[in-house]
Amino acid sequence: MIRTAILISGGGSNMVRLAESMTGDHPARPVLVVSNRPDAGGLLKARDMGIDTAIVDHKDFADREAFETKLHETLLAANPDVICLAGFMRVLNGSFVQKWQGRMLNIHPSLLPKYKGLHTHQRAIEAGETEAGVTVHMVTPALDDGPILGQARVPVLASDTPDDLAARVLKAEHALYPAVFRRFVEQLN
Ligand code: GRF
Repeated sequence: MIRTAILISGGGSNMVRLAESMTGDHPARPVLVVSNRPDAGGLLKARDMGIDTAIVDHKDFADREAFETKLHETLLAANPDVICLAGFMRVLNGSFVQKWQGRMLNIHPSLLPKYKGLHTHQRAIEAGETEAGVTVHMVTPALDDGPILGQARVPVLASDTPDDLAARVLKAEHALYPAVFRRFVEQLN
């Protein structure tokens, strides 16, 4: 069984889709959901699914190193084989990433390498893109830069607001992440 930890910062809709997919003959199971925000709605959803949760609030630490040291300890205690970042909104230092490199995935709401960073939907609309999407990639020290494992594309409509586009992309995220994750863990097995 491939032990999987999921890191969130918000509502956790991607976390829920990942956890729901890990049933039956799926080689992985969720063993921990960690949030850097105590008020993340995803924590309640994880508890309702019977998944252990932990909070490592970045505001409780003097700097990123101290936060990441605690985050690393919290993860080690659950002994995960793989980590999925799912709406986790803290940029991780290279030193942290290197400890989990090759077994940490992230989902990013754009067609990387386009629109790394924040506000991806607004930037795609402002640039006049006719297509947008989502990417699942391996996490490397450079932000939103690791090897791409999968992408899904959606149209950008002339009437779209960033929220309209975000909702359309989120639907694509919910299908893409479980599929790419399963493919990834099956090749680990
Ligand atoms: C998603 O759009 C994800 O791509 C981005 O943050 C959003 C999180 O959504 N990084 P949720 O918390 O999984 O619902």
